Amino acid sequence: MSSVVIVGTQWGDEGKGKITDYLAERSDIVMRYQGGSNAGHTVEVDGKQYKLHLVPSGILYPDKQCLIGHGVVLDPEELLQEIEMLVSQGVDVSNLRISDRAHLVFPYHKLLDGLEEDKKGANDIGTTRKGIGPAYMDKSERIGIRVCDLMNEDVFRDKLKANLQKKNEILTKIYGKEPFDADEMIDRYLGYGRQLSCYVADTTVIVYQALKADKNVLFEGAQGTLLDIDIGTYPYVTSSHPIAGGVCVGAGIGPTMIHKVVGVAKSYTTRVGKGPFPTELFDEIGQSIREKGREYGTTTGRPRRCGWFDAVIVSFSVRVNGITDLAITKLDTLAGLETVKICTAYRRGSEIIENFPASLEFLSECEPVYEELPGWDKSIEKARTYDELPVNAIRYIERIEELCGARVSILSVGPAREQTIIR
Ligand code: GDP
Ligand code: IMO
Ligand code: MG
Repeated sequence: MSSVVIVGTQWGDEGKGKITDYLAERSDIVMRYQGGSNAGHTVEVDGKQYKLHLVPSGILYPDKQCLIGHGVVLDPEELLQEIEMLVSQGVDVSNLRISDRAHLVFPYHKLLDGLEEDKKGANDIGTTRKGIGPAYMDKSERIGIRVCDLMNEDVFRDKLKANLQKKNEILTKIYGKEPFDADEMIDRYLGYGRQLSCYVADTTVIVYQALKADKNVLFEGAQGTLLDIDIGTYPYVTSSHPIAGGVCVGAGIGPTMIHKVVGVAKSYTTRVGKGPFPTELFDEIGQSIREKGREYGTTTGRPRRCGWFDAVIVSFSVRVNGITDLAITKLDTLAGLETVKICTAYRRGSEIIENFPASLEFLSECEPVYEELPGWDKSIEKARTYDELPVNAIRYIERIEELCGARVSILSVGPAREQTIIR
């Protein structure tokens, strides 16, 4: 049996979808364990592009079972749209299963997400406005509504009525908005429930039995370590646990059942939304990385902030996730630069900081310490083995490996499945 966790080591969008799709070939099950439709995972196969938000990136193989675990907050409307999009692209989704314990996202979660962001003004988080924070808030408050509730009409009706009464009070009294109509929402959601009922299962049983039967399971993280609610750049984070430990909670397996953790890191750094970013570039290099790497959000279309590779962040991720292997993506995007920089530590006054700090005020006083390495001008998109890479690209990878303390086992030189090098 082998179980492999794929985690983002930065602020999301590292290329987890591409790496999951690649590794899925040798897996039996691919499972999402946290997050929701805030995720945007792009997978390119045979020249076709698939944008996935809730469905695991193993779905493009007809023989893999894809599971959405209970740690995910599930927007049924978005899931049904995604299923429709996949079916229209010729993808077989009959192997998809969704947890009966997963919490549901409702229109009031999305509306409140946006209203709370607007109220914060310049201090907003820059959320995806997909209702993620409010849905996880309901779960913690113990008033959330789960997939199993949606499968029972009477239970669902009672729970939604009670919730909506409270949400409508907030919407009308605090925000001066129109209330939602309970009957309309109940009917609509019961309709979604009927359409989704064929996918509902106890995913903890499926994944446990697969591991016991020596099958290979891949856990696909969404977001990234620095967006984790505990470990990340709080409060500029998401409301779930994208770290490897999140698998135990969100998929429902014990820590003894995890064998490997693959940390996906871009060969530079990007971030969407607000919050600190020590190596952010505001010059033409940052702009050229954004254009060459097509750094625009999959979910919201927002331009991604771009900067140099930050080894303080990735070594922090190696530590808190127990990363056994690193997958470095988008090495092709950096090709053509005369030199490339890696942040090896932060400087705060006369102090050198090697461990990523908790306090954002402290972090704002830190400046990156850079090491400059020679760039590579050869296009590397066609390389298929490690030896075919330009010597300076190899030097860059090996320096990352040294600084971050984990072996770089996978390299990605383009968005397509075959543009992947196993070392
Ligand atoms: P995720 O959220 O971590 O799955 O990453 P996204 O899909 O949001 O963003 C990564 C983007 O980069 C996608 O458009 C991928 O198709 C693309 N991509 C992944 N790996 C590579 C690579 O090695 N080179 C290039 N040029 N693009 C890549
Ligand atoms: P994938 O899986 C990048 C960011 C948002 C915002 C913060 C909180 O594609 O890597 P939320 O809507 O979750 O409450 O927003 O988290 N964010 C992401 N950034 N990639 C993602 O997912 C993200 N999901 C959320 O931009 O800063
Ligand atoms: Mg993404």
